[in-house]
Amino acid sequence: MADDINMANPAPGTPAAILGSAVPRIDGPLKTSGVARYSADFNLPRMVYAVPVVATIGSGRITSLDATQAEGMRGVLKVYRHGNMPRLYKSNPASRTAQVGETRPPMDDETIYYNGQYVAVVVAETMDQARAAAGAVKVRYATTPLNISRDLSDGFTDKMEVKSKRGDVDQGFSAGTVTVDETYITPIETHNPIEMHAVVADWDGRNFTLYESTQGVANAKEAMADMLGVPQENMRVVMQFLGSGFGGKLFPWTHTPIAAAAARDLNRPVKLVVDRHMMFTNVGHRPRTVQRVRLAATSAGKLTSISHDYASDSSLLDEKGENCGEATPLLWSTPNLRVRASVVRRNLGTPTPMRGPGAVPGLYATESAMNELAIKLRMDPVQLRLLNEPELDESTGKPFSSRHLKECLTTGAEKFGWSRYNPEVGSMKKGDLTIGWGVAAASWIAGRSGTDTHVSMNDDGTVRVVCGTQDIGTGTYTIFAQVVHARTGVPMDRIKVVLGDTRLPSGPMSGGSMVTGSVLPSIDEAAREAMGQLLKIATSGNPAPFPGAKVDDLALTDGYVHLKSGAPASGVRFEKILQDANVRATGGKGSTQSSFESDAAKKFSFHSFGAHFVEVEYDPGIARLRVSRVVSVIDVGKVINARAARNQIEGAVVMGVGMALFEETQYDARTARPTNNNLADYIISSNPDTPEMDVVFLDYPDTNLSSFGARGVGEIGLAGVAPAITAAIYQATGVRKRELPVRIEDLLHPAPALHSI
Ligand code: MOS
Repeated sequence: MADDINMANPAPGTPAAILGSAVPRIDGPLKTSGVARYSADFNLPRMVYAVPVVATIGSGRITSLDATQAEGMRGVLKVYRHGNMPRLYKSNPASRTAQVGETRPPMDDETIYYNGQYVAVVVAETMDQARAAAGAVKVRYATTPLNISRDLSDGFTDKMEVKSKRGDVDQGFSAGTVTVDETYITPIETHNPIEMHAVVADWDGRNFTLYESTQGVANAKEAMADMLGVPQENMRVVMQFLGSGFGGKLFPWTHTPIAAAAARDLNRPVKLVVDRHMMFTNVGHRPRTVQRVRLAATSAGKLTSISHDYASDSSLLDEKGENCGEATPLLWSTPNLRVRASVVRRNLGTPTPMRGPGAVPGLYATESAMNELAIKLRMDPVQLRLLNEPELDESTGKPFSSRHLKECLTTGAEKFGWSRYNPEVGSMKKGDLTIGWGVAAASWIAGRSGTDTHVSMNDDGTVRVVCGTQDIGTGTYTIFAQVVHARTGVPMDRIKVVLGDTRLPSGPMSGGSMVTGSVLPSIDEAAREAMGQLLKIATSGNPAPFPGAKVDDLALTDGYVHLKSGAPASGVRFEKILQDANVRATGGKGSTQSSFESDAAKKFSFHSFGAHFVEVEYDPGIARLRVSRVVSVIDVGKVINARAARNQIEGAVVMGVGMALFEETQYDARTARPTNNNLADYIISSNPDTPEMDVVFLDYPDTNLSSFGARGVGEIGLAGVAPAITAAIYQATGVRKRELPVRIEDLLHPAPALHSI
């Protein structure tokens, strides 16, 4: 057996050195050549098309629904609505592994809870026929009063849920000589992956197969088995490629059981693609948050109190809160802290996680408050943070598994040139432009989910790794192959990675940036077992190429099994050993235990950290503001693929520019209909908005989490970007707006600067 390999600090020149290198995505050519099939690309024989009819009011009930004309139209097979919709159950509400976005089975009653709600679905032979007929369904409504109020003050009561508490915040607040007490607001944001939600549902008389755009095939399988009322073994979910999800595709939404139920009812495969307008109402959003942050510090800048109270919106159907206080209790040291949360109900669809749920809007508020505190203290914002670094996670008393936030701040400051920072508003110039600088810290939870994997070494010279997780566009296929290469030395082009199918050993949901940290150790375990079996065959098969040798005397290098004492080429290719033994493949299983119930979780607080330094350029003549430069220093343990990891942070920073300056879902006050429900009016940042970016990863493998030392990377990149940008805007313009996004018009009529320097 091969000597053990240090996966967290691989020796240079060895196969394991591929861990950390910038390997291009192995699925890249499939995507750029159009070979990769996304869910909506599946076309099955006899397939028909489903198009929903959506509610045009935001609150009320259906008084009549006339589908007569639609039913008579060419190609139409059926119009489903409340009353003739085949029975759907609720997904088991007590299960954590069968979650759905909206828990109400679609068309369960005639009440309208939100604008855009599906009230009917037309199924026809072609998409065009279905769409035309959907337009011919006549629905009448009785409206009831609508509540989509942006004022969430109804959430700020003494019934708020205490999420974390230590000391006494009121005493701590009075003890401070400098205080900040401000309210920060983040708007409703809509996930806009370029691939829209889609499902192709097939029923064979006994089994469902769903080609579903999902971040979690295993969860979708359980949830859809529940809703359709079939045993889990009769539900298969397939998702090979995802055009991103950002959290919106973690859990199935109501279109999926509709398509599946129709497929069973009609005995025809059904395709349903959620269009871009429906993407703004039916498949989740990041809820609006209103957050009051109270900080107090001594004149020397030591925090004496942190209080963070927040409310977020949810639908009338489900109570899903935005966990804004996720990072608050552990980010900075303070003896007195309280985090309280509440959820208010509105006539909107059910919200759902969006990249860095909770922590991202939460850190916008708390890190903005830290920047305001620094100004009041006349202290450098980097210094203020360095001064309040905790020794351990003060909310649990546990040490951090690995925390290098101070180094993120100092390294970032140096790379950015922060020593030239002049806090005076408008003081920094670049030609005719005013520039502004800002900084903020980032934090995101880390952990491992339970997973199973299987690795086989095959008689055609390939190694195959399979896991029922999925690659949502982040590089999962590639890093899994890297691990197999690191362990076996078999070249990357001979490694096949198979994901995204519930027939495979069960893997984790692609959520929380946790797949890498979860699955890698189990792949390694499986690969070792497959190799061990191979070496056993090499020594004890008949005929054995190394008769009498001990397994421990052998090594596998570059695909050759050889005596450790000899050169690789003196050995035998592994596939030859299998061929001669008439064995098709050896195969090993691996599994990872969830860290959340593990001994390690009892000992350590697992989080990733980072710091973003931002420069904006402001042209006061035309109120033109651009984010021009961002330096991000990220502490995620061991980086497995330098290219994919940098890509995650760069993408997140670009998304952060959108969060700070552009993104907001807006609603018509009368109908609760989103008015910017398309990519022309809902502005996301694009190439011209992209700053010059410098991404630095600190390389401190977190071996408390796994032997690979990788905590995973993704969401951490968005955390902290918006407060760094708004700090830079203030420094350039004197405009302190505490509600995102900060728009051009906010700069045109600047309020007087609240804090003079
Ligand atoms: Mo992420 S919001 O857990 O997909």
